[in-house]
Amino acid sequence: MRIDAIDDDAILTVSSLTKCFGALRAVDDVSFFLKPGEILGIAGPNGSGKSTLFNAITRIPFAATSGVVIFEGHEVQDLPAHRIAALGLARTFQRETVFPSFSAIDNVLLAIEQTRRGRNHARDVHLAEQALNVVGFPATLHNWKAADLPVFLRKLVMIAGAMALDPKVILLDEPASSLTPAEIERMRDVIIHLRNMGTAILLIEHVLELLTGVSDRLMVLDQGRKIASGLPEAVVRDPLVVEAYLGAAA
Ligand SMILES: Nc1ncnc2c1ncn2[C@@H]1O[C@H](COP(=O)(O)OP(=O)(O)OP(=O)(O)O)[C@@H](O)[C@H]1O
Ligand SMILES: [Mg+2]
Repeated sequence: MRIDAIDDDAILTVSSLTKCFGALRAVDDVSFFLKPGEILGIAGPNGSGKSTLFNAITRIPFAATSGVVIFEGHEVQDLPAHRIAALGLARTFQRETVFPSFSAIDNVLLAIEQTRRGRNHARDVHLAEQALNVVGFPATLHNWKAADLPVFLRKLVMIAGAMALDPKVILLDEPASSLTPAEIERMRDVIIHLRNMGTAILLIEHVLELLTGVSDRLMVLDQGRKIASGLPEAVVRDPLVVEAYLGAAA
């Protein structure tokens, strides 16, 4: 494995992960690590395989074609998705996955109960309330229907659903998409708060200022392959990265 893709202290190590859709290698031999408490940013043009990478790591909704995912020292790539989540590897989605007719708190409860069956309902309600508080969701709106909430708050509900599982690592797929500049600032504060609580974060984001501002390290995908990684300020100036973005824009 490449030297920039392994670290003895890593909480998550992804090794040679590949996901094929027929002839398309949407994720192509990607390796990297994430250290406890770290934010690793993931950038790349549209269609470069970022969301597919999250799908293949978490097995929601599909497994990788090949490769290894080591979480806290154990290979998890063959475990069912709910087991991976219960171990402490949670994710959010690029498109919000909240149920519009459910209240904010019921959406978080659903996320808890899908992962941990047979638990005490009253305790789960407490966990859901705590998770909404952790992401800064207003206490007065817990019982509002998701459909009646603005997009920023629906995103917080989705993140709370992941945080309610008490994850050690959370995978955030474009949390700032569709947000106003002021809301992006608030989302930045939420992300930093989650990290300060000790959660390690993989962050996919197109808002580069947010991504480079909060990430300890940055990795860039292009056509499924990792083309650069390192300190954000160096990576965004890497000629390969500039070319990938210019090529995509053309
Ligand atoms: N379920 C699927 N079946 C077939 N092809 C897929 C599937 N999911 C993704 N792809 C393809 O895999 C490639 C990578 O897609 P992916 O959604 O991972 O990109 P992305 O980097 O997240 O893009 P964006 O920035 O637009 O969200 C694209 O070519 C996409 O069309
Ligand atoms: Mg995506």
